[in-house]
Order: sequence, then C-alpha cells, then structure tokens
Amino acid sequence: MSAPVRIGLLGLGTVGQGVVRLLQKNRDEIARRLGRPLVLTHVYTREWSRRRECDLSGVTQVREARQMVRDPAVDVAVEVMGGLSPARELILEAIAHGKPVVTANKALLAEDGNRIFSAARERGVRVAFEASVGGGIPILKVIREGLAGNRLEEVAGIVNGTGNYILTQMSEHGVDFAAALAEAQARGYAEADPRLDVDGIDAAHKLTILAALAFGMPLAFQSVAIEGIAAVTVQDIQLSRELGYRIKPLAIAKRAAAGVELRVHPTLIPQAHLLAQVDGALNAVVVQSDAAGTTGYYGRGAGGDATASAVVADLLDVARLLGADARHFWPPLGFDPDAVQTLSVVALRDVECAHYLRLRVADTPGVLKAITSILAELDISIEAILQKEPQNRQDATLAILTSVVPEHRFNAALDKIRGLPFVRPGPSHLRVEHFNGK
Ligand code: HSE
Repeated sequence: MSAPVRIGLLGLGTVGQGVVRLLQKNRDEIARRLGRPLVLTHVYTREWSRRRECDLSGVTQVREARQMVRDPAVDVAVEVMGGLSPARELILEAIAHGKPVVTANKALLAEDGNRIFSAARERGVRVAFEASVGGGIPILKVIREGLAGNRLEEVAGIVNGTGNYILTQMSEHGVDFAAALAEAQARGYAEADPRLDVDGIDAAHKLTILAALAFGMPLAFQSVAIEGIAAVTVQDIQLSRELGYRIKPLAIAKRAAAGVELRVHPTLIPQAHLLAQVDGALNAVVVQSDAAGTTGYYGRGAGGDATASAVVADLLDVARLLGADARHFWPPLGFDPDAVQTLSVVALRDVECAHYLRLRVADTPGVLKAITSILAELDISIEAILQKEPQNRQDATLAILTSVVPEHRFNAALDKIRGLPFVRPGPSHLRVEHFNGK
C-alpha cells in the first residue's frame, strides 16, 4: 500500500470531533477504498481547554493555524472551524501554498466562495465542499455527477435541520419555539449563533451552493429571498393540517420564465408530498430534471457524525487526485466563479405561487363578502377557506388558500384586507408550494 495521506484538521467542534472519530473508526474501510491510509496527523483548535469526545493521541497539536496550512508535512487541510474569518484567510493561505482543502463552511462559500474558487482554479488546487450542504446526504455529488446529463429545473428541500426540528416539535408535541430550539442546540444541530438557523440564513447559504451547481451560476447569496420560521404559530400548523398541508422550512431554487427563483421561507406543502414526510432534524432534497425526472435524497443533514461522513468522502476524492494534473479536476465545480451572472434572479414580488392567509376578524355580517370581494377584484381565486367559530364572543379565525398569483398582486390584496375595519392586526401569510402536482 502507498504512503498515507496526511490530514491537518482546523477546528475541533461538533464536526471536527466527528471527523476524528470517523477516520479512526473506519480506518481500514477507508484505506481499502482509497488504496492508501488517510491519517490525521495535525490538529488545530482555538479552544484547547474544552472537553472532547475523540481520541487525539499521536496527533500533533498545532498552536498556530497558519503554520499548519503552510506545512509541507500536511497533504490536505480540513477546515471545520466555521465562521467567515479566520477560515477565509486560512483557506486562501492553504490554496496559495498549493494545499488542497476540504471544507464544511457553507457560510463562507456562499458569501465569498467565488473568490475562493477563483483563487483555487488559478493555483490549480482543489477545494471540496460536500459537507457544506445536507450533512450526510451526498447531494452535491448527485447534482455534479449522478445527474450530470440532465438539465435541472428545480432543486427544493429542507436543508436546515434545526428549523425542521423546531417546526416538527411544535406540530407533534405543541412544544413552544424556545424549548424546541434549546433541544436542537443540545443535540448539536444548531449553529453557534442559532439565529442563522431560525432566520433562514443557513438554509440560504446552502441554497446558494445548490443553485450554483444546479444552474451553473456563480454563487449569488445576496440574491436569495429569505424569511425565517419565527412567525409560524402552532395555530398555523394546525389550520394547515386541516387544509391538507404541512408547514416545512423550504429552500427553493427553480427556473422560471423570467430567470431563476432563489427563496427560503416556511412553506405549506401538500401532506402527500415526499418533503412533507421529512420530520425532526432530517433533511431532504428533491431534484426535478429533464431525463431522470423527480429524484429525492433524504437523511441526516446535521450533527457531527453525519457531516463527518461528507468530509471524509471529500478527503478520499481529493486524495485520489493528489499530484494529478489540475486539468483533471477543473472544472469540477459546474460553474465559473469568475463569470458575469447571466441568469437573472426573479424578485420575490414577481414570484408566482399560491398563498395561505390567516386572519382574525370580528364576527359581524359582511366580513367574508368584503374579504372575498377584494380577492376577486385582484383576480385572485380562493382555492380553500376555513372559518373557526368565534372565540371569546368576539373574533373568528379565517384561513384562506389562494390560487397561484404573482406576489405583488397578493400583497396588494393583503394591504387592502388589512385596512378593513373588522380585520384584527397581525394576519399571518405563508407561501404554498405544489411542485406542479409532482
Ligand atoms: N445548523 C445546521 C442545521 C447544521 O441545523 O441544519 C448543518 O449545517
């Protein structure tokens, strides 16, 4: 067997510890598949004092991260520190020294990946990033390799485990938002700053990467329309269920007549759809392509071991091509990081979809007529309507599902409805996705 491939690990958090454990546990399997051993030789962390659930005996503990990425005794650097800086500088430094990098850093790639991939191409160095999206689900490999013969129409999925866990707990156990979030944090799903999960930013980072690979566009995080899950209530979840839907935190990249839609928001999905069955912290991605049709990928999208699975798979990929001519791995990306953005991203106001609207209204005659008249005037058809008996002798609750309309038209109707004297403050509005009946 040839000489071992020497791995330098930057970061010893949930994912880093998972990588250490997996490289040790499956050492023989990995060496059999690669034809040579993968050995962790160096590790760097900013917090040496923390207790770890992994064995670091025999591994050199590096005190200076830059020293590791320059060290010729390290063949591949693994960046699992997270955050934008110093991860960005360390990856660029590794690239400058001709050292391949495996990273799980979705935030960095989504926000600054064009620069990183451009530098990597320039230097002929590989940057692999399967772990940045979908944890243990090899979704990037699927898009880049398995479906490489297809034109992709849509990639949609649940790519934030924390958000899915919270909505599932609210739906199944009536648990409140804060308690569900605390549990997700305790289980290691949530980001260091959980607002990234709850506000939809983490899902938008992942969607940016998926869209780049699916549609061949440079990374365009700034163009993603993002809404978090914090406004979803248990009442919305219950009413949606009565209407035949589940509410899921969805990330959607799809081709439309005017360009591509890139959006992240809580979404009503028909109960029978594959994605509606994905509960807890699980992730799933559905890809619509011209030859293969609809394909779905499901699994653990967060957590140390699942994410380590993707990191180690990338390590094998990178190790196989160590020393190879860079032409063998460019373009592995499926997009040109230096290209001018040719696909325009459809503004949210122009996106066409169906809408869910929950209103609390005074229980007086003519309420329904006034609301439905506004919708009719704006050519918005009502697909379903549900009224709950008035509570506390005053207010009734209405839930309405509309036809597919441009969002600006729905918003115009909502503004008028809000202005009606008998509509109470704080209507709830969510988007509905039918996946074209697929
Ligand atoms: N915070 C992320 C999630 C971790 O909840 O999905 C995986 O990227």
